[in-house]
Amino acid sequence: MLTQEIIRRKRDGQTLDRKMLDLVMGGIADGSIGDAQIGAFAMAVYLNGMNRDEAVALTESIRDSGQVMRWDDLAFDGPVLDKHSTGGVGDLVSLVLGPWVAACGGHVPMVSGRGLGHTGGTLDKLESIPGYDVTPPDAVFRRLVKEVGVAIIGQTGSLAPADKRLYGVRDVTATVESIPLIVASILGKKLACGLETLVMDVKVGSGAFMPTPEASRELAEAIVAIGCGAGTRTCVLLTDMNQPLADCAGNSLEVFEALRLLGGHGKESRLYQVTRSLAQEMLIQSGLASDAGDADKRLDRALDSGEALERFSRMVQGLGGPGDLAERAGHYLPTAPVTLDLEADRTGFLRAIDTRALGLGVVELGGGRRNAGDAIDHRVGLSHIAPLGQHLEPGQPLLRIHAADRADADAVSQRLRHAFDLGDAPVEPPPLVHATLRQEDLS
Ligand code: URA
Repeated sequence: MLTQEIIRRKRDGQTLDRKMLDLVMGGIADGSIGDAQIGAFAMAVYLNGMNRDEAVALTESIRDSGQVMRWDDLAFDGPVLDKHSTGGVGDLVSLVLGPWVAACGGHVPMVSGRGLGHTGGTLDKLESIPGYDVTPPDAVFRRLVKEVGVAIIGQTGSLAPADKRLYGVRDVTATVESIPLIVASILGKKLACGLETLVMDVKVGSGAFMPTPEASRELAEAIVAIGCGAGTRTCVLLTDMNQPLADCAGNSLEVFEALRLLGGHGKESRLYQVTRSLAQEMLIQSGLASDAGDADKRLDRALDSGEALERFSRMVQGLGGPGDLAERAGHYLPTAPVTLDLEADRTGFLRAIDTRALGLGVVELGGGRRNAGDAIDHRVGLSHIAPLGQHLEPGQPLLRIHAADRADADAVSQRLRHAFDLGDAPVEPPPLVHATLRQEDLS
């Protein structure tokens, strides 16, 4: 069948089957389909949507457009599982969760991404660690997933190659905001990692990828239905991104924070609570724990015994980083030469934070990219970010800026002043987990 006939069908509101989608995704992956047809295909899907079966088929076609990892020959003694997030600010969950779940008996082949827009990227954070190689040979990755239980690396060219081109064209043809295209893009890549269980963290709020809580919920429902339809047990936690998850954002600062949590500190933090909720769901869904109480016991044991931190250290060393990072973090992780506190200029309760603006502040400091391929300054970022609901007096810090020089710190300080909204009435902070969606919850 000609590609233009497949596009015509979608344009005219008809459905596409797996064979047609395989033809298009295969052609995108091998380069035989040009950008014009990719753009027309994306726009036809954007305008007419896809039913569930079509969206499952599209996800499977993207997953199968390249190498699909298989783990059965390694005879694991635990499930293959992962977590993925739609991206946030101060969201370093992956750094803590992967080793923590590995310490509970899971095998986590975590293929992560770089920062996108205002959100941080796990790979950029890990590259704050001297020597850490995010593109190791396949044999090293597989050995670590087997022996350590976790390896966090970057996407190779052979994993879901159709998505890379399709996403690039969507980005410049105003077709990113389509639920079936978003879900197929996210899940196509994740399911190519050979997962039995996937827990997704879909963010809700002022720093979330989706613009409204309703859109986040719609995405979450589609992810559960399509992930399960494609054969991977998939569930979603809708978690809050109306403020940065950690009280810091920036690559090196977030690795420091991950080490603090893995060291058993910060158990009162939002970051700890959300990470723990996601880990609990992973253990239950994968069968590593029989229920919430059992999951709690296993998680406590893994963290309090130091086993989770040990897994992180072994992963870092296995990927080329220093073996004593946890003991000598201050020696290895870079820090910024200039710090500047942004202070409240009135009395009041912190009632809203423009989380997206804070993420963009990190980018402006050099901690993220303006253009693909830009170098990153791992030292810079924000810390001591005041939480929603906090009562502040004039002169108390809203946050601390870590910058390469004073001019950068001043410029970002000016801009971020408007990201904080103080009011006279006390405010209840939003819940951390808005909802959990499993297959059985779908109508
Ligand atoms: N992230 C992805 O990987 N794909 C999308 O389409 C949107 C966000």
